[in-house]
Amino acid sequence: MVGMGMIFDETYRPFLETAARDGVFDPSLGRIGVTLSAVASRTGVRAETYRGNAPAGNAEFTSYAEPKAIDQLLNTDVDLVCIATPDDRHFEAARAAIDAGKHVLIEKPSVLSLAELDLLEDLAQQRGVLAKIVYHKLFDPDHKKLRTLVVDGVLRHVNSGYCTLLEPKQISGTQFAEWITGRNPGTYVAVHYIKLIDFTFGGRLKSVACTGQRGIVGPADGDTWDSTQLRMIYTYDDGREAAFDIHTSWVTPDNFPGYVEQEVQFRFDNGVWNGHSRLRGVECTVEDKTPREMKISMNNHYNGTFVEPDGARTQRGYGLEVLERFVREVAHVEFSEPATERETRLQQMRDLAYNDLSSDRQVVATVQAMEEILKRHASGVPNCVVEVNGDGGGLVLHAPGSNEPQVLYQPVVS
Ligand SMILES: NC(=O)c1ccc[n+]([C@@H]2O[C@H](COP(=O)([O-])OP(=O)(O)OC[C@H]3O[C@@H](n4cnc5c(N)ncnc54)[C@H](O)[C@@H]3O)[C@@H](O)[C@H]2O)c1
Repeated sequence: MVGMGMIFDETYRPFLETAARDGVFDPSLGRIGVTLSAVASRTGVRAETYRGNAPAGNAEFTSYAEPKAIDQLLNTDVDLVCIATPDDRHFEAARAAIDAGKHVLIEKPSVLSLAELDLLEDLAQQRGVLAKIVYHKLFDPDHKKLRTLVVDGVLRHVNSGYCTLLEPKQISGTQFAEWITGRNPGTYVAVHYIKLIDFTFGGRLKSVACTGQRGIVGPADGDTWDSTQLRMIYTYDDGREAAFDIHTSWVTPDNFPGYVEQEVQFRFDNGVWNGHSRLRGVECTVEDKTPREMKISMNNHYNGTFVEPDGARTQRGYGLEVLERFVREVAHVEFSEPATERETRLQQMRDLAYNDLSSDRQVVATVQAMEEILKRHASGVPNCVVEVNGDGGGLVLHAPGSNEPQVLYQPVVS
């Protein structure tokens, strides 16, 4: 495990504790044992806190702190490495882990540029390992249903849509205070919906635009963003287009009734899909607890703690399921028979477009474009647009009033 922060505690910790106790089951392999054997983090403080609270059997890991935490971790015999560092530190950790011949799972957003993606993809091919990304929203039952209706042709031809994901102020003010400078909530959370749109509707990305607001997390003319509004235009094989707007923020008041506000609407030739994460059906008010210590509306599908009908206490949901799937994919490559067909199995697992790095090109292209547009905006040139796969190259930035486009990435994006 590289990074022992919020997401470790929220998803990896409960997954690893359950997996250590019960194993992970695969129909063809049976029980797969999973052990947290080593962790790398900046200071090691949270790792020790966790060790102090971990159930028996989960506290035996070796903890490495900076400097050279990851290098030391990679010298051990770990089979797979999960990377949950801040988003601008995924690349170096992933490169080192893949280079060391480890299978790698990276938190979203995978990396911040196509050049980084190319490098990791090539390296994963050379080293014969899997390099995958945690896209748990694709396992949200509502999003699976949306995709099913699209795949089955019940909902026909998406025309446009919007998504919002609003995080509480506590995220920008406390949780990420240490690494927030120069960052934006678009790269952090719009990426969930960028992937949902790319994976569910297919098509080719055509252009990216973005704007945003400042003044709460950092100065009004600085490079740290409170909220962003991203627009992506896609084109499809029949020559028609669709436009998608994704609004994100990390300055929503902390006394908001839900932890995050997530809403989508997609409009089709023959229908409209409306989804709202807070309106799935549960509202609960508890005196002196909601909405701060406990939220009024909760997402019990993503990650919930439960007393099961048989009395067992569990923590489960699609946020953990996605980690288990990765473990099964690695186990399939390494442990299925016959050993001589490892290469075929590796390719089968790489072909899973929902999480493989090779299928993340249009998502990373959007993230790179958004980062560059916001950087230009902060330096006094707002409203740039990035054209994808046009005459000038794969990603080309056009600034208002300028006749000199800037090539961000020359090769074709997809
Ligand atoms: N899947 C999701 O829904 C979801 C939710 C939250 C966060 N995330 C992602 O998880 C990642 C981490 O987010 P978080 O909320 O856990 O952040 P965090 O700030 O709580 O934790 C970051 C961790 O990374 C460690 N770290 C920082 N630099 C490091 C380095 N160079 N080497 C080793 N360790 C280093 C820190 O010590 C800390 O343990 C981000 O990429 C974020 O986008 C995903």
